[in-house]
Amino acid sequence: MNQASLHKYIASKYQNASSKKLFELRLSTNLTLIKDLFFSLYPEEKYSIFFDTLISKLPSLYKERPSELQQQDIERITDENWYQSEGLVGMQLYVDHFSDNLEGLRQRLDYFQKLGVNFLHLMPITPRPKGENDGGYAVNSYHEVDQRFGSKEDLLMLTDEMRSKGMYLMLDFVANHTSNEFSWAKKAMAGNLKYQNYYYTYPDRSVPDAFEKHLPEIFPVTSPGNFTFNHKMKRWVMTVFNEYQWDLNYSNPQVFIEMLSNLVKLVNNGVDVVRLDALAFMWKKIGTQSQNLPEVHMLISLFKLCLQVVAPGVVLLAEAIVAPKDIIRYFGNGKMSGNECEIAYNATLMALLWDAIATKKTILLYKNLRSLPKKPNESTWINYIRCHDDIGLGFEDHYIDEIGWDAKQHRKFLLDYYCQNIEWSPSKGQIFMYNPKTGDGRITGSSASLLGLEDALEKNDEQAIEEAIDKVIMLHGITMSYTGIPLIYAGDEIGMLNDYSYLNDENKKGDSRWVNRPFHDWKAITTLEVKNNYQSKIFFSLQHLIRIRKEHRAFADHNNVILYDNPNPHVFIYERNYPNSQGILVVCNFDHNAQIINLDTLGSYGLPEGIEDLISGKTLNITGHTVPLMPYEILWLKHIAN
Ligand code: GLC
Repeated sequence: MNQASLHKYIASKYQNASSKKLFELRLSTNLTLIKDLFFSLYPEEKYSIFFDTLISKLPSLYKERPSELQQQDIERITDENWYQSEGLVGMQLYVDHFSDNLEGLRQRLDYFQKLGVNFLHLMPITPRPKGENDGGYAVNSYHEVDQRFGSKEDLLMLTDEMRSKGMYLMLDFVANHTSNEFSWAKKAMAGNLKYQNYYYTYPDRSVPDAFEKHLPEIFPVTSPGNFTFNHKMKRWVMTVFNEYQWDLNYSNPQVFIEMLSNLVKLVNNGVDVVRLDALAFMWKKIGTQSQNLPEVHMLISLFKLCLQVVAPGVVLLAEAIVAPKDIIRYFGNGKMSGNECEIAYNATLMALLWDAIATKKTILLYKNLRSLPKKPNESTWINYIRCHDDIGLGFEDHYIDEIGWDAKQHRKFLLDYYCQNIEWSPSKGQIFMYNPKTGDGRITGSSASLLGLEDALEKNDEQAIEEAIDKVIMLHGITMSYTGIPLIYAGDEIGMLNDYSYLNDENKKGDSRWVNRPFHDWKAITTLEVKNNYQSKIFFSLQHLIRIRKEHRAFADHNNVILYDNPNPHVFIYERNYPNSQGILVVCNFDHNAQIINLDTLGSYGLPEGIEDLISGKTLNITGHTVPLMPYEILWLKHIAN
């Protein structure tokens, strides 16, 4: 039994116990494991005093938690896992690009309800440096609200109202680094040794050079190298992302203890899911790439085990955009099993969907998905077609080679296809962080622009417009029906195009990810009901898909996805099933031509009668012994109940 199951048991067995008693029970349940992990990271001989500090801090952290949230914690751990429900659909947004501020967002909650969205990921709203700040991922505080978004009261009013409406909130915890304006960084710059040890700082290049031998570069174009010389401090400081983002030194236990406090303060604002930003980078070791190290898992698990004691209803999301085999480990392995993150981004599915669109073939998609180990039962994915960041081609070369394609050429083709290097491609993406030495690069662009809508509108090509709309709907139809929480990037629900205005902003123009972070088009939204245009077609189709998703238990995540092979290389087929309820077969055509599939390949969904497509509401169209599929069509097939 893992800790989460133990806590469920305790909460149900001691229903009438006081909240203090429950806290103590949780602490005694987790204590051995907390101790074990703490001393694995911070050897007992040297750091036992810090262990005592940590344990004596937990009761006061618990006391800080508002009683309403303490109550909710108990309900959450005794209920079924809410984050695996078919009833959940998410949206990700920058508050200032969506509704100016938090108050404006609260006024717009009915917009989400209209679409069916009930889970929000707000991009960082914490204070940040005035100039460049990586969209707020350079933090000056972990739990305050930046003035531009309003006040702490506005946040509390928002979370209150969201709770009353049954909505969930996810916020970032930028655990890997602070900004160079964070109070610890300022003290370090002023010469305070204690705080210099909160970061990786060095008087000369010897250690940085040793690190650099194995560290890759995250932003090679705008921020090459992994260290920055700070003139005030007269020391080199590790800055893996941008120069103004200082990596925290978690090999110092004081950093862990203080960051735990920051985390608790953050979640006490009414946060349901914490997005652990860039967590793969949280432990560094010379001689390694310093990503996904075993210590990272121990560290995250330590955060989790403490959070289970203090705020057990809070769920963690791993923002680990790494190789598929590495992503899955953030759900917890061995003694960390069930004690790490409940949710992770399905970056593998995301990247492969883009591969299938460009190649019009699903071979690589199947090959990779089949090779993924099964995730633990208590975990789930976030399924998305794109987010605020770039799209990286994060699948492994050997799978490409095994198909008989040349991995290097294939990657080049994908970059060319999406980044306007192939004349016939309808895509209007931009290249991000292209490294001519390795040929590596990533892709930016809004989904509609990447899928050809911008190009089709410019050319006023009706057929191409319809084709792009179909692609947008098909890809969302997949994320809505795959195992996990679908997450829509705000604006994609009305097919918003690339936003080039970032080029006029000094602090943004070097970062083409801003092209895919448009300002929400409320004007288009006011006319959705009266106009029949691409915005309304996409919006109402997504609304329809969401409604159907919520009506079917089969879409809840119980590791219930079964891939169906098919000799037709353009189709992608999978079944979602659920005990004692009807299964659903999802069938998609990634080709721009109509395709046919043989009835026999659809298992029990290939019966000549009694099958309905939930999306169109029509019975399955069968011609002879085959099912015709229109270009970019998606079907959600179900047996018609007698
Ligand atoms: C995550 C964020 C990204 C940010 C980076 C550094 O990957 O998604 O936007 O640049 O972390 O904080």
